Amino acid sequence: MNTIVLKRATLEDSQEVAKIEKVGNSKTYSSRTKKDEIENFIKDDFVFLIKNRETTVGMVSFKITKKKIVHYNGLVIYPKFRSKGFAKKAMFLALRRVSKYSRIELVVHPHNNSAISLYFSLGFIIEAWKNNYFGDGEPRLVMLKK
Ligand SMILES: CC(C)(COP(=O)(O)OP(=O)(O)OC[C@H]1O[C@@H](n2cnc3c(N)ncnc32)[C@H](O)[C@@H]1OP(=O)(O)O)[C@@H](O)C(=O)NCCC(=O)NCCS
Repeated sequence: MNTIVLKRATLEDSQEVAKIEKVGNSKTYSSRTKKDEIENFIKDDFVFLIKNRETTVGMVSFKITKKKIVHYNGLVIYPKFRSKGFAKKAMFLALRRVSKYSRIELVVHPHNNSAISLYFSLGFIIEAWKNNYFGDGEPRLVMLKK
């Protein structure tokens, strides 16, 4: 059965987080690559390894801004574990942790069909289109949880 739990990542998990970020990297997913970027990500944000029994199948993360906005800023499933429902279950569990916040948002590349379908299925709507969001010339959609 595809039961999962979320395990909060610690600095000991830096290599695993770096590995997951690396496989997620593409035109539609802007990943963190440098060692200090990964370590600050783990220290400053809420980064969770997605575990299916003892196996890490991916990662989900969010940060909470000073204005109490929840911003999902990472979701990657290792390619061999995709299309098994892990991302949907992980997002569901991660959203439960922030249900008291009034604004929950994320950004996604407009060509990232699988991620956009997933977010629609979890009740997100498209709020805005932002050109050159990460400074790499690529646009992003801002999606908001309703
Ligand atoms: C996007 C990603 C996280 C989805 O992970 P996944 O575990 O394969 O997704 P799930 O199996 O949980 O699928 C959940 C939903 O996503 C959508 N989905 C997943 N794969 C899809 C595909 N290939 N095409 C269309 N929709 C898809 C569907 O809505 C699906 O729900 P359904 O099965 O009820 O139809 C994964 O493809 C990934 O890691 N991509 C690279 C990193 C990335 O782009 N992350 C998103 C950043 S915003």
